Amino acid sequence: MSTRKVVAPTFRYPGGKGSRSPKIIQYIPKRGRKFFDVFAGRLNVTFRALADGMVFDEWIINDINRAPFFRALRDHGDGFKASPKTQEEFHRLSALAKQGDPHALLMEPYLCFNGSTFDRCGLSTGGGRRSPESYERNVRLACNLLRNNNVRITQLDWLDCLEAEQPGQDDFVMVDGPYIDCEVGAYESESICPTELIDYLQRAKFTWVFTEHKQPMYLQAFGEPVYQQKAQRSSQHSIQSEDQFECIWTSEGAKGAKRDSVTVSPLPVPDDRKDTFYVSLDDEALLREIRECAEMITESRNQMNKEMRKRLLPALIELKKRTYRKVPGYYETLAAMGLNPATVRQWFYRSYTADEVISDGGEAAGAALRRRR
Ligand SMILES: C[S@@+](CC[C@H](N)C(=O)[O-])C[C@H]1O[C@@H](n2cnc3c(N)ncnc32)[C@H](O)[C@@H]1O
Repeated sequence: MSTRKVVAPTFRYPGGKGSRSPKIIQYIPKRGRKFFDVFAGRLNVTFRALADGMVFDEWIINDINRAPFFRALRDHGDGFKASPKTQEEFHRLSALAKQGDPHALLMEPYLCFNGSTFDRCGLSTGGGRRSPESYERNVRLACNLLRNNNVRITQLDWLDCLEAEQPGQDDFVMVDGPYIDCEVGAYESESICPTELIDYLQRAKFTWVFTEHKQPMYLQAFGEPVYQQKAQRSSQHSIQSEDQFECIWTSEGAKGAKRDSVTVSPLPVPDDRKDTFYVSLDDEALLREIRECAEMITESRNQMNKEMRKRLLPALIELKKRTYRKVPGYYETLAAMGLNPATVRQWFYRSYTADEVISDGGEAAGAALRRRR
């Protein structure tokens, strides 16, 4: 491992780990084959790992929303000059960011409140401790780290990214996704399915670090976290009212987890499951019933996700290709099977997946119009 440490660039972000990254990287192996940051956000964990001289053959940063920011940093960060922090500039750059303008994307964490995105927040008023010059240095440093380490950028759903790469035992995966029930604006808490993530990490051959609040679901899956600290209220806006703890789980820690699992019965719901049945159960039996039922739901949900991802999605994409500019078209063909766009969109809770198979408005509206005529 290289002993040379440089200052790590940090970028503000809702749920960003700028201040927690020194703690997080204590649980990451110092060297390995591939380093994945699959929910890379504003890259705070990756930058800390790079700056601390960790040695990986390949670095992969992935984020379904923020990859354009990564590209802007890598391709335009070297000559970056900060714009003035004014309301006019905020509005001007907000419009440019929508068109993917790299300067606007690089200004976003600096201008927007808490490093959020132009479309989700207002101008950051105080400006924190960061002067325009220090922000410029930060961006340039980030650019150098990305270029010097030949960091690869992807913009995929986390699972698609990992399934394409098939990480193995010498690889490391950082998992800092959206937190359950945390509405932060810059991204959706619903854009991952927690049970799918748990299932994937439990089967993983690679080393991983996972950060989240102390949720019962994760405690059950991975055991006690290797680290926990009372969360600052501002880190993510939880809709839960009680105190939250920022936790770190690791693949090593999770190996020892005593999972209180039950065997899931593949049988349909028995006929006797009426209110009276539950009244007759003693406490132990009632808790067993709840646990079995919860496991059954998890199992079915994961199975459903698999069906959608591996069968329905590719089949719909193929149908879309085949019916392009044909009559009947894509939507008419679906409608003939009793499937309307709203139903299909609702199945794909991940919005970008829905966009792939149901484009908003135009085409569907056109089909509806043709049907009415
Ligand atoms: C908590 S933030 C990551 C913060 C990052 N570690 C940092 O310190 O800057 C979670 C990120 O996950 C991304 N994300 C949400 N759903 C995703 C998905 N299904 N696949 C990949 N990325 C996703 C969001 O865009 C967001 O940037």
